[in-house]
Amino acid sequence: MLYQRLCLRHLKHVLKIAIRHHSGSGGKPQVCVIGSGPAGFYTAQQLLKGNPDIHVDIYEKLPVPFGLVRYGVAPDHPEVKNVINTFTQTANKDRCSFIGNVTIGKDISVAELQKFYTAIVLSYGAEDDRKLGIPGEDLPNVISARNFVGWYNGLPEDRNLAVDLDTDTAIVLGHGNVALDVARILLTPVDILAKTDITEYSLEKLRQSRIERVILVGRRGPLQVAFTIKELREMVKLPGTRPVLHTNDYLGLDDIAKDLPRPRKRLTELLYKTALTPTSTDQKIWASATKEWELRFRLSPLEILSSNSSKLSGVRFGVNRLEGSELTTQKAVLTEKTEDIPCGLVLRSIGYRSWQIDPDIPFDERQGVIRNNKGRVDGKTGLYCSGWAGRGPVGVILGTMTDGFEVGKLVLKDIEDGMLQVNTGRDNALQLLQDRGVSVVSFKDWEKIDCVETADGEKNGKPREKIVETDRLINIAKT
Ligand SMILES: Cc1cc2nc3c(=O)[nH]c(=O)nc-3n(C[C@H](O)[C@H](O)[C@H](O)COP(=O)(O)OP(=O)(O)OC[C@H]3O[C@@H](n4cnc5c(N)ncnc54)[C@H](O)[C@@H]3O)c2cc1C
Ligand SMILES: NC(=O)c1ccc[n+]([C@@H]2O[C@H](COP(=O)([O-])OP(=O)(O)OC[C@H]3O[C@@H](n4cnc5c(N)ncnc54)[C@H](OP(=O)(O)O)[C@@H]3O)[C@@H](O)[C@H]2O)c1
Repeated sequence: MLYQRLCLRHLKHVLKIAIRHHSGSGGKPQVCVIGSGPAGFYTAQQLLKGNPDIHVDIYEKLPVPFGLVRYGVAPDHPEVKNVINTFTQTANKDRCSFIGNVTIGKDISVAELQKFYTAIVLSYGAEDDRKLGIPGEDLPNVISARNFVGWYNGLPEDRNLAVDLDTDTAIVLGHGNVALDVARILLTPVDILAKTDITEYSLEKLRQSRIERVILVGRRGPLQVAFTIKELREMVKLPGTRPVLHTNDYLGLDDIAKDLPRPRKRLTELLYKTALTPTSTDQKIWASATKEWELRFRLSPLEILSSNSSKLSGVRFGVNRLEGSELTTQKAVLTEKTEDIPCGLVLRSIGYRSWQIDPDIPFDERQGVIRNNKGRVDGKTGLYCSGWAGRGPVGVILGTMTDGFEVGKLVLKDIEDGMLQVNTGRDNALQLLQDRGVSVVSFKDWEKIDCVETADGEKNGKPREKIVETDRLINIAKT
């Protein structure tokens, strides 16, 4: 028995040596990361730290780096964007290259990249959104929060979004942090937004906006909201705006809160306090507010309503009851009752979704994620995933960092264990892109764009003025 085990171990060792020999392990491993958001950059950081020989190429479809840190994080949250400094340090390392303006799955395939690189990490995020699948969802001014966020943040493909703010009431569907982001942007005094890196065209439209009421509607109750306390506090303190919280929704929550896990406890206490025991100072401030935001619960959208002229007029909701013994995980069940709420703008904020950028990536269409086991893509040696593309569109940058680090370690271990063929063909990949006429943007090129944007911003008293036309971005990068 012992002899057999020893033989097996020896056989494994010989096999590893054979793989190394076959793949020419004399070369230094080259790893390709797809996507330059937090997942891509943190995975790269771990790879570079863990192996002094490795070279990491970060491919990005846009001519600019940083994913949702640039195009998702709200403009009035500049402190969150400080992670860009760490990403910049990573990108400026000798053994790291940013290769922007290359769409994987279109300009070059995953199968091609596998021939050139030792390992590939898919960190391409979640660039689609969930749909409700209800009548009227395609009416004008029924807009996904994802596109609205892209619009105010200057994502080139969303810059011409047809959003009409000539209405007094907006409904935001969903109770997550993105829902609070979009509600806050609609209600924040424009003079405050004008000091951020929000795009000039959206600032102009927000200046003309007639919206004075934003109703955030969730399908479950106050104990199941997905937003977090910091973001709720910002809403409570939003200048010129009062919260409208219906007392009946919160009665008894003070007692229930005592037994909840700490983050949920503090969140529930803040909801309770705002609804039932606000300070006199808060009450005084709210009395003079001209705008308001309202939280509505236990309502599922059934239909988007329109007038005869096909103009959006409101949303029909089904009234839910909640079922389940565990309070914070109760499920919504539709009753026969309905309620119509009038509005002129609907922002659907029910979550993002990833998609299959290349047919060689095993993809779970139902969940909207790459099929994987803790970062190893199912059935594909040398293929890994990190961040929202593999885990789903949930979690803040910190969680994405942990995931990126873990996947980076996994790749390093597989290289160390001789599990991967050490391909060293990055030059061939770059040559192929050149042959195909793809104009690659390097990190130095991005730094030129960065300089122009910050200089333009300075003129307007903003941290940056984002350039929103892809052609112009590339022109600046290439001159
Ligand atoms: C609106 C919004 C606001 C948020 N605000 C905060 C916040 O304030 N604080 C916080 O901690 N977290 C926030 N988050 C969460 C945070 O943004 C995510 O945790 C994080 O960005 C996920 O990182 P990722 O790298 O997986 O995806 P992403 O950041 O989306 O990066 C993916 C990258 O891949 C690129 N890509 C896509 N397809 C291809 C392709 N075919 N070829 C090449 N490249 C491709 C994309 O262009 C993108 O650059 C927010 C999220 C959203 C949606
Ligand atoms: N400031 C920040 O830190 C910040 C800012 C923005 C985003 N983020 C993070 O980014 C991630 C994504 O945020 P998100 O707001 O897009 O997603 P989210 O947190 O998953 O919230 C989605 C919301 O949509 C609701 N929903 C889903 N399907 C629905 C349906 N069919 N009908 C009605 N409602 C539906 C959910 O309700 P149920 O709970 O009932 O499913 C939930 O309230 C989160 O982890 C978030 O914290 C962070």
